[in-house]
Amino acid sequence: MTASLYFAHVTDIHITDRRETWSTLGEEAPHLFRVCVEQLNRLEELDFVLITGDVLDMATPSELERFLAVLSELRKPWHFTPGNHDGFIDPDRPTAYKPHEAVPLIDPRMASPTPEAQRAYWSRSIRPGVRLIGLDSRLPDNWNGEINAAQLAWLEAELRACHDELVIVGVHHPLHRLGPHNTRPWWSNFICDNGAEVERVLGQHPGVKLVLAGHHHANQIRRRGGRLHVNTAALTGYPCTYRLIRMTPRSSGWRIQIESRPVADEALRKKAYDALIHSKTAHRFNPDDPSSWAAFCEGRIEDQTFEGELS
Ligand SMILES: [Fe+2]
Ligand SMILES: [Fe+2]
Repeated sequence: MTASLYFAHVTDIHITDRRETWSTLGEEAPHLFRVCVEQLNRLEELDFVLITGDVLDMATPSELERFLAVLSELRKPWHFTPGNHDGFIDPDRPTAYKPHEAVPLIDPRMASPTPEAQRAYWSRSIRPGVRLIGLDSRLPDNWNGEINAAQLAWLEAELRACHDELVIVGVHHPLHRLGPHNTRPWWSNFICDNGAEVERVLGQHPGVKLVLAGHHHANQIRRRGGRLHVNTAALTGYPCTYRLIRMTPRSSGWRIQIESRPVADEALRKKAYDALIHSKTAHRFNPDDPSSWAAFCEGRIEDQTFEGELS
């Protein structure tokens, strides 16, 4: 039996120069990412870091430069699945990298095939018996997500080929609704359109124990069949945290422990909270009580930490 596995889940860094952002701390994003990297570098036994997309915000050359400057300080193996902000096709932003340009500049392992939407998926052996699969849920022309038929067919074949391994899946868009609000127009864009279909494929393979996602900028942990689905809040949006995950083999399966680690001091956490509750999203979520959006993003205690068995 393989030894325990210890890794980090970081998502939605949204490095940017602009002051007005989608409810994250734009100016402080490089600092918060650097704090995260410094913390991760200090964890001697950390096996790897999984980053599930939206590392950029408007995909400008200067955002990319600032992101890569901090990433280059990370002294751990890292893996990346792209998000809808990692490249832009927008005539009003002629300097922005297009998605197929930005993604290989972020992660050169994705240079080929050309990483247009739905094509930047991968499967990597972390160690004997442990596999990490990255899905590409981006669409070419919108910010919602899906896993198209070709990618699903590849996933099915890949899971059949590694049926005796522990499989961890990373994907930008959550595969299921995080709350009733996701049934409403606009809010459904936060969820993978055909997540149920993807879950049906994952459910046929008991080795798939963990699904890690971002995009919704909210903490949530749910058991789905024999899997644990972990959605992690934006690193640079309230409550400014990332996850540390330890999986320990047991005779009956895996023991999993998840904690949320903060990267903001009290002043920045307060700034992130104020930015969030004054955002348009918070007012859309609940016009009578925008602060309820901050509570949703932070999650309940059981959405921030977890300890239990996956058989
Ligand atoms: Fe995001
Ligand atoms: Fe996103």
